[in-house]
Amino acid sequence: QDKRESLFALSQWAGKYFKDQLWNSDTGKAIGLAYFKERGYREDIIKKFDLGYSPDQWTAMTDTAIKEGFNSEYLKEIGLSIERDDKSFYDRFRARVIFPIHNLTGRIIGFGGRTLKTEKSVPKYVNSPESEIYHKSDVLYGLNFAKKPILDNDSCYLVEGYADVISMHQAGVENVVSSSGTSLTTGQIKLISRYTKNIVILYDGDAAGIKASLRGTDMLLEEGLNVKVLLFPDGNDPDSYVQKYGSDAFKNYIAEHQEDFVFYKTNILLKDAKNDPIKRAEVIREVVQSIALIPDEIKVSVYIRQCSGLLDIEERVLLSELNKIRIGKS
Ligand code: CTP
Ligand code: MN
Ligand code: MN
Ligand code: MN
Ligand code: MN
Repeated sequence: QDKRESLFALSQWAGKYFKDQLWNSDTGKAIGLAYFKERGYREDIIKKFDLGYSPDQWTAMTDTAIKEGFNSEYLKEIGLSIERDDKSFYDRFRARVIFPIHNLTGRIIGFGGRTLKTEKSVPKYVNSPESEIYHKSDVLYGLNFAKKPILDNDSCYLVEGYADVISMHQAGVENVVSSSGTSLTTGQIKLISRYTKNIVILYDGDAAGIKASLRGTDMLLEEGLNVKVLLFPDGNDPDSYVQKYGSDAFKNYIAEHQEDFVFYKTNILLKDAKNDPIKRAEVIREVVQSIALIPDEIKVSVYIRQCSGLLDIEERVLLSELNKIRIGKS
């Protein structure tokens, strides 16, 4: 309808505005473009992802939009402008580098803005709110670029952030998407599974990344996908690994370290359990709980067998645990 089209048009315009600031304004070049180059992004990649810059001013974008005839209600609705008590408006994105978020057809539907400051008191990212054109739980950052590469590879890498998607493209690994800030949703998983059933989770090598990987694994298994997992060492994420060690080292690392979820989860949990028999029993239950989510019976029996070897537990014990979990659920 008309309103949706207007919101799309406004988003495209804002994307161009931020891009123009990055490439053509003095501060955009000196601060924003310099920041991306400092991070190791090539110009072709900065262009491909429509990256931009929002100036360090309160109303620069809003004023320009209004002058060009855009409606302030729509600016507010897609969250580019925020209304004050006195009904005046100011810019949501100020003094940030801008990552536009595209829908499947490549139209801009929202933005993420990263601060250039290092103070802990400033939020690292500011993001567009939900709107009529931006339903976060149904969007994956980078999917517009990744569709074909995912089909070609019959596999998709799932990462945490914008920067990870971009650096992996630069490294030549293009079958990658990110849930960017929202924790993975069923809608996002259904979206991926249109293109492939094979997912490799590449989350940050920190406590939050481990936690998110275990939660993500269970959700993906439940939707019938095949899940492998890899964590980066020493708090790295895919972006920092690519930039530190280079594309070839990155590709080797991910080729050699991705593990099937059952090995990944078992090893992570066993590390904490050591040889404590009660804790080991708990690990077994937790791993079987994940296996119990898998809808395909043949895969379930393959995983039970693997798990039996891995944990040195008889298969029939695992199967009886599996049945208990299933009865508990039905
Ligand atoms: N995120 C967010 N708001 C925050 C922090 C993070 O929306 N305050 C989202 C962003 O989409 C970010 C992702 O979560 O890309 C992962 O967060 P994090 O690992 O902290 O950021 P990086 O993507 O690694 O960003 P950078 O490399 O620029 O520090
Ligand atoms: Mn809708
Ligand atoms: Mn992180
Ligand atoms: Mn990160
Ligand atoms: Mn990062």
